[in-house]
Amino acid sequence: MSIRVGVVGAAGYVGSEMCRWILAHPDMTLSMAVSRSRVGKPLSSAVPALLGATDVCFSGFDAAALCALDVVVLATPHGAAAGLAAQLGDAPVLLDCSRDHRHAEGWVFGQPEWHADKLVGATRIAAPGCFATALMLSAAPFVDAGVVAGDIQVVAATGSTGSGASASAATHHPERFVNLKAYKVLNHQHVPEVLAFLAGLGTQPTLNFVPWSAPVDRGIFATSFIPMTPGCDADAIVRTAYGNRRFIRLRDGTPELRHVRGTAFCDISVHQDGDTAVVLAAMDNLGRGAAAQAMQALNLALGLREDAAIGVFAATP
Ligand SMILES: NC(=O)c1ccc[n+]([C@@H]2O[C@H](COP(=O)([O-])OP(=O)(O)OC[C@H]3O[C@@H](n4cnc5c(N)ncnc54)[C@H](OP(=O)(O)O)[C@@H]3O)[C@@H](O)[C@H]2O)c1
Repeated sequence: MSIRVGVVGAAGYVGSEMCRWILAHPDMTLSMAVSRSRVGKPLSSAVPALLGATDVCFSGFDAAALCALDVVVLATPHGAAAGLAAQLGDAPVLLDCSRDHRHAEGWVFGQPEWHADKLVGATRIAAPGCFATALMLSAAPFVDAGVVAGDIQVVAATGSTGSGASASAATHHPERFVNLKAYKVLNHQHVPEVLAFLAGLGTQPTLNFVPWSAPVDRGIFATSFIPMTPGCDADAIVRTAYGNRRFIRLRDGTPELRHVRGTAFCDISVHQDGDTAVVLAAMDNLGRGAAAQAMQALNLALGLREDAAIGVFAATP
């Protein structure tokens, strides 16, 4: 029988991306798409690309109806998600894309490559943040190997969809287009999440992170400088960690955003200068950084194929 899924915040960027994967899933049915602002309207009113994909129309938040489904996905802003989750205590499986339950008691932090064992059978899953995913995937092999020998420095650029569907001065096209700037320098909200995750793999490192706002709609490109204990082979460390992982692709040269657009992939390349590893990572903030990774985690939790629905490649050029 098909797994019935409801998405709250389905008109937003992450929610609509989640609907796209559910509609493509061989074992899932999109049963409810919740939006406060579009009740009664078809899904395609918010997501024109999904015209013809489903007869499901947006409905209001109904905790009893959602709890009667098999899975509920919260794709709502942080703060709101905690209140909604409190009303969904009877939901068999609840997945929160916000940061409200990351590292919360009783919730599994849904990082599929490093927490696959914990995800099997999980019923409360907190999907990692977008920047956090790029930083975690880049540093984790070195922390896990116990070879980090100093502060990790990261510069990473993100696309405008990272701020959600509502327009703001920071995402307005004339402000964003043909521009590059830093923001929240050494003060991004994802750093504690990254450090908590890395601490679970080994010794918690110090992380200095400078986020950039890039003139693209989707994508995160991260450059991490990782000091290693003398004599380490950075390439071997990363290959040991990710050599056989379905959605981590190791590249020569540089990864590129366009090669991962709309996918669950994180493309990584590794470079070394003496005892410093330089890790380049490219991924889609709405794909690997949100909905595709959430679906990957859900697949693991439900005992389905890890790549069910999300095993697609980017369209290029
Ligand atoms: N964008 C990214 O790259 C990204 C990556 C990873 C994680 N996330 C996280 O995923 C969540 C969704 O992000 P997003 O970018 O998709 O945001 P978004 O585009 O603004 O969508 C959020 C949706 O939630 C609904 N909503 C807002 N406040 C609500 C409330 N109080 N109660 C119920 N519904 C509410 C809104 O729809 P209605 O007003 O129609 O109800 C809106 O469409 C956030 O927690 C974000 O931090 C985002």
